Amino acid sequence: MRKLLAAIVMTAAMSSAVFAEDTVFADFEGNDYGAWKTSGTAFGDGPAHGTLPNQMTVSGYKGRGLVNSYRGGDNSVGVLTSPEFQIAKPYINFLIGGGGHNDTVMELLVEGKAMRSARGENVNPGGSEVLRPEFWDVSELNGKKAVIRITDRHTGGWGHINVDHIVFSDSPATRFTDCTRAVTVDASKPYLWVPIKNGGEKFRVELFDGSKPIHYFDAELATTADADWQGTLNLAPYAGKNLRITVKKYPEDGTGFAAISMNAAPYSTPQDYRETRRAQFHFQPRHGWNNDPNGLCFFKGEWHLFFQYNPYGRNWGNMHWGHAVSKDLVHWRELDVALYQDESGMMFSGSAAIDRNNTAGFGNNAQVLIYTATGGGSTQCLAYSLDGRNYTKYAGNPVVGNITAGNRDPKIFWHQPSGQWVLVLYINQDGYHTIGIFNSPNLKDWTRTGTIRGDKSGQGNFLYECPDLFELPVDGGPETRWVVFGASGAYAVGTFDGKTFTAEAERLPAYADAVAYYAAQSFSDAPDGRRILVPWMHLEGEASFNQGMGLPQELGLKRTAAGIRLTHTPARELAKLRDGDAVPFENFSGELVEAIVDCRIRDGETVGFKFRGIPVSYDSKTGTLAADSVRVTWPITDGQLKLTVYLDRVGMEIFSADGLNCLPLAKVAPNPANVKIETENAAGMIENRNRAYRLNRIW
Ligand code: FRU
Repeated sequence: MRKLLAAIVMTAAMSSAVFAEDTVFADFEGNDYGAWKTSGTAFGDGPAHGTLPNQMTVSGYKGRGLVNSYRGGDNSVGVLTSPEFQIAKPYINFLIGGGGHNDTVMELLVEGKAMRSARGENVNPGGSEVLRPEFWDVSELNGKKAVIRITDRHTGGWGHINVDHIVFSDSPATRFTDCTRAVTVDASKPYLWVPIKNGGEKFRVELFDGSKPIHYFDAELATTADADWQGTLNLAPYAGKNLRITVKKYPEDGTGFAAISMNAAPYSTPQDYRETRRAQFHFQPRHGWNNDPNGLCFFKGEWHLFFQYNPYGRNWGNMHWGHAVSKDLVHWRELDVALYQDESGMMFSGSAAIDRNNTAGFGNNAQVLIYTATGGGSTQCLAYSLDGRNYTKYAGNPVVGNITAGNRDPKIFWHQPSGQWVLVLYINQDGYHTIGIFNSPNLKDWTRTGTIRGDKSGQGNFLYECPDLFELPVDGGPETRWVVFGASGAYAVGTFDGKTFTAEAERLPAYADAVAYYAAQSFSDAPDGRRILVPWMHLEGEASFNQGMGLPQELGLKRTAAGIRLTHTPARELAKLRDGDAVPFENFSGELVEAIVDCRIRDGETVGFKFRGIPVSYDSKTGTLAADSVRVTWPITDGQLKLTVYLDRVGMEIFSADGLNCLPLAKVAPNPANVKIETENAAGMIENRNRAYRLNRIW
């Protein structure tokens, strides 16, 4: 008896265990439809593997196969029918996307009658071809025989349907829902925090003031309580107002939308600026992603650094202009976002200048920003500020319309000799990377006067994106030349009369190895006519921040045997970082390093150093410098090796003392325990004056 009872209990336990598991009815992972029958052409002979030719990107399906009736485009029609099955579980869960028409539909047929149906939506917010979880409650049909029929009889727009992962289950799939919340902006808590889960699905978050849209952004809005960090939006301009936040198609059981909160300060943690992989004397935004420096400008006693910025993700997206200021070019204070993306699109790269003669009518000495807006073509737009804190977009934007697709990254400056503004703009024209030259009396009305041609697009990147053009003295003056470059830094030297640039030499490499830098720009209106460059440096961060800027570099021109060449010297302000006097390498101990290599190498010798374990060596036989995993040509004369090496917690930059060579390394990250500088083959050196400063952190 006991034995029998035990057997019954076991069977019950086993069957309930089986009962609790989902049954995958169809996953469409095979090469054909198996027992499913198809007619017409829309479904082809078997499941699609993702997106079909000419279709927008399909996502949200499981595995590699799915039903996709875009075979032959929207105009093809067909039907796909499952084998018969018996309904034994209360829910049928599936993923569905594509057309939302009556005749792009998936149905559950019992005795030939459609008992349930589902369709796509034509346009899903996350991208029109995203398959979304759906379910049918079929509990009342328990025990019935049924088939699933997928029909595409629609021709024209959204004339297709996508289906995947049909599962019989005891519980419904999580559905997506449109969310709305009201928030009252209390002046003492104006900062909206948005929980971000890195790598999660992106949702478009929209804010409204009444019916007026005021902000939008795409964020990996957390759906569970384990957000990695929070993106911040300052709503102080709306203090006292009732705003509405919406997110469409958010998981019904998601917790992140409700967790969006109002706070007294921007999102911060005690770890900020002290994170293991946070550069300690290079600028990096506190949170989010940055790329290009923008609007570099000295204004009212401050260096302004704007930058391509995603406040809501650690990857590229939502391009805003982030903003930081410095009184000394070394210590930076991050401010609120200066330019938000808006109905004109994202705020792409651009520049700034002080309008000393109030030519634009924005006010005396207004700081004028010019940026590319990406909505409706790629247009050039102005914004201005009188205080360096609050930025107003010009109501008459754009000031330069779309010329060719993707023209962008305007750089403006006042050209004294011709008494007018000059704008240089990246334009992809006739298959070439070119820089268009424009003139204006007032920053608003622009006339194109010239073109500087770079490489054929696809074949080289000379003069691609982010142009800069400026004059520099040769060997300190009075003779001068003009320099032009694009984002790679490869440059031309020549003359410029306000309308036309005439090159003397071009395609000159700016850095010994340009991989770690990109899209460098120079400051406008710097005191004493200085020309200071800041590159974007690919410093990888951590969960809540990513990327950074290279050290500020003073530019110059030097006459060499090969011609006039650009020089890069670390800005003299960086000396402020030094903590005490320089010591010989062997006495050095510290995390943040400025090392001065100053020695003579015996003929044919190779000498080396390990800066906190990062190897840097010079081979006098080949005239090459090797640093970490990179080896570059690095000419020296009379065996004199003179370098300045900056080593941060992440990232390293090496400059030759004559400024003709610069090697940035973004990936190096020394072991925290190693705080020494070692010398290898000291016997290969004479006149060894090598010494190093310990540096302070800037945060
Ligand atoms: C260069 C660039 C620019 C563009 C910006 C967008 O890195 O592609 O041309 O304005 O980034 O973030």
